[in-house]
This record gives sequence, structure tokens and C-alpha cells, in this order.
Amino acid sequence: MRIGFIGAGKVTRTLSRHLIGAGHTVVVSNSRGPETLADFVADLGPGAIAGTREEATKCDVVILATNWVNVPEALKGVNWRGRILIDATNAHVDAKPDISPAGVARSQAALKGRTSSGMVAEMAVGARLVKAFSNMPMMWIQDFTPTKPRTVIFTSGDDGEAKKVVIELIKSTGLVAIDLGPLANGDALHDVGGPLSGIEFHFVQRLR
Ligand SMILES: NC(=O)c1ccc[n+]([C@@H]2O[C@H](COP(=O)([O-])OP(=O)(O)OC[C@H]3O[C@@H](n4cnc5c(N)ncnc54)[C@H](OP(=O)(O)O)[C@@H]3O)[C@@H](O)[C@H]2O)c1
Repeated sequence: MRIGFIGAGKVTRTLSRHLIGAGHTVVVSNSRGPETLADFVADLGPGAIAGTREEATKCDVVILATNWVNVPEALKGVNWRGRILIDATNAHVDAKPDISPAGVARSQAALKGRTSSGMVAEMAVGARLVKAFSNMPMMWIQDFTPTKPRTVIFTSGDDGEAKKVVIELIKSTGLVAIDLGPLANGDALHDVGGPLSGIEFHFVQRLR
């Protein structure tokens, strides 16, 4: 499959390595244009292409991987209708995410009872939205070998067919998907500060 990324940071670098390793192609974009991404894609190797945000959003699946404060700008002006969009963001209110308990509490309070993907759904009207990959630091999934730990990635979303595509995509990389149901129920579980966020689940870890 062809996977488009909006954002070219730690999440994109990590997920791209898993996806390219599984034979997928990634199209990476940022706010400054493809010419600024030459080193980024060269480092990922064949299978990675620097693109515009428009090119990334035309891929089979699009992954939103910008900081929360940049999400409105990153989603603006795209016709999202029918597009499968994975929300990998965490709704940190600060430009530099504060993951201390106090920072997380402030970010949760700023949601005012909404879920972050609920807000993304309002900004990406018509997108077939699936929340995934946001529940753990990327440093926990830096093994890209075929024998990588089968780490659990949570998903949630209202579009069952879109979720199937995302779950198959996760499985293709050697990671494991556990679906938490519709956005309204599932999101709050793996949203920042939720009971399933920041928890590392894989077999090897449990045996240590
Ligand atoms: N890091 C983790 O371990 C981790 C784990 C799970 C979830 N998350 C969440 O995933 C998201 C990304 O995290 P990250 O650590 O990958 O962030 P990051 O390393 O800071 O990268 C963010 C990227 O977004 C780009 N960007 C900013 N504004 C943009 C726009 N308008 N359009 C397109 N691209 C734009 C930035 O590039 P330019 O400024 O050059 O455009 C940068 O490449 C955050 O919401 C974070 O909370 C992070």
C-alpha cells in the first residue's frame, strides 16, 4: 500500500521503518515542502518518497503525525471525504508536549470532555477516521527486525471497513492491533492520560 504522512518527525520516522519493512511505500510531507525532506527520506531508504501534503493525502491511507497545536493547519484545505485517516496525535496543549502528570492533566482539561479524535473528525470532515499508534512513545517500537516483539497497537473508530484496512496494515508490520470499538468509547481509553495510554504490551516484556 501507499501510506501518506502529514508530519515528518519521530512518529513518521518510526512508523515508516515498520511500514517500509513490510513492503509498503511511504509519502512523507511537512509544512515546509518536499525539498526540505531529502535527508529524511534518504535515511529511510528506498520505499520513502518526499511529497507535498496534497500528495500525501492522496495515498491509500493517510497518517496524521503533527503536534496537536499544528493539527488545524495540517488538516486545513483538504477534501477528506472518503479518505482513510489515521490519527496518531496526542492532544497536548503545549507546543512542546509536557508529559508530566500536571501537563497531562492540563491537556485533558483542555479537551473539555471531548476526545481528541472527535475534534480531528470535526476538522477533517468526511474522513474515515481511525485513531491508532498514539498510545505509546515511539522509543518502545524501535526494533524493525522480522523478530520484533509483537507489540500491541490500539485502534478505535466508527468506520468498520476503514478500521479493517488499518488493522491489516498494523498486522502486516508484525505489530498487533487490538480494537477498542467506536471513537466515542475507544478514544478515551487510549487518548493521552487514558487508562491504556503509555502502557507497553508485548509478550517479551511480560517475561522479563
Ligand atoms: N514522539 C512519540 O513518541 C509519539 C508517540 C505517539 C504519539 N505521538 C504524537 O504524534 C504526533 C507527532 O509527534 P512527533 O513526536 O512525531 O512530533 P515531531 O517529531 O515534533 O514532528 C512533528 C512534525 O510535524 C510537522 N508539521 C508541523 N506543522 C505541520 C503542518 N501544518 N503540516 C504538515 N506537517 C507539519 C513538523 O515539520 P515542519 O515543522 O517542518 O513542518 C514535524 O516534522 C504528536 O501529536 C504526538 O503527541 C508522539
